[in-house]
Amino acid sequence: MSIVLDNISYVYGAHTPYEKKALDGVTLEIHEGEFLGIIGHTGSGKSTLVQHLNGLLHPTSGKVTVNDVDLADKTEEARNMRHTVGMVFQYPEHQLFEETIAKDIAFGPRNLGLSGEEVDERVREAMKFVGLDYDTYAERSPFHLSGGQMRRVAIAGVVALNPSYLILDEPSAGLDPFGREEIFDEIIRLHKEKGITVALVSHNMEDISRMATRLIVLDGGHVILDDEPLTIFMHHREELQKAGVDVPPVSVLMETLKHRGLPVSTEVRNVDDAVMAIEKALKEQEVHHAE
Ligand SMILES: Nc1ncnc2c1ncn2[C@@H]1O[C@H](COP(=O)(O)OP(=O)(O)O)[C@@H](O)[C@H]1O
Ligand SMILES: [Mg+2]
Repeated sequence: MSIVLDNISYVYGAHTPYEKKALDGVTLEIHEGEFLGIIGHTGSGKSTLVQHLNGLLHPTSGKVTVNDVDLADKTEEARNMRHTVGMVFQYPEHQLFEETIAKDIAFGPRNLGLSGEEVDERVREAMKFVGLDYDTYAERSPFHLSGGQMRRVAIAGVVALNPSYLILDEPSAGLDPFGREEIFDEIIRLHKEKGITVALVSHNMEDISRMATRLIVLDGGHVILDDEPLTIFMHHREELQKAGVDVPPVSVLMETLKHRGLPVSTEVRNVDDAVMAIEKALKEQEVHHAE
């Protein structure tokens, strides 16, 4: 079970003066259970890439399959397979349109042809999952919520479709730090508790390094790096810089300390790790000096 991109290219506005090749020979397999981070400079092709994962865009050349079904097929099987891939767009609150939160979340499941009872069940479960109390919120308008809450409603609408794969395009864009934490905690829970395969687009390395089990870096429509996040930070800093991707400051700090002679581990993902690594290195130094 996986999503496979087989040598796909995508051209916007083919045969017009605005022709633009946004993806150029991308080959990639997203495995079940994975948490894939997708990073790259603005315009590197991230959004174009993820829109291929549920058949919103079809490649100009190459092929996209989900669980071995070609998404470009005009069969019922291909249509059903597209529904196993849930997509949360950048600024998903722009997709909200029903007058109540419950109706908004029910829209997708209803379109799947489920019975009223099943739809209601899905809505309740999805709201519970994203931490919106049904009795409090079901009948409220989605347009009077905070930015973070609106995004939760949008994510609940996708969760209610019971997808096997969840694709998120910059889900924290424009949120304050609190809203970002909320959204990321939720995504981590979806991955851990529901076992959903996640592909998350971000331009924030620290967010990605905290969550992703694997990272790809896009540059000019090409996948230039594909590895564990930590391996990429530690060993491919130059390529990252060339691709216009910022490296987490905490990684830079650890490298600097090491160069200055403090024997710290540079294998850190966040500030907590860094504090532990620095304390450990300082203790070791003290012991060393006392001897
Ligand atoms: N609808 C479109 N029409 C024409 N060109 C587009 C369109 N959408 C994106 N592009 C171009 O394709 C390239 C990749 O864009 P995109 O996938 O949005 O990158 P990212 O999400 O990494 O910022 C960019 O050069 C962008 O200008
Ligand atoms: Mg984008």
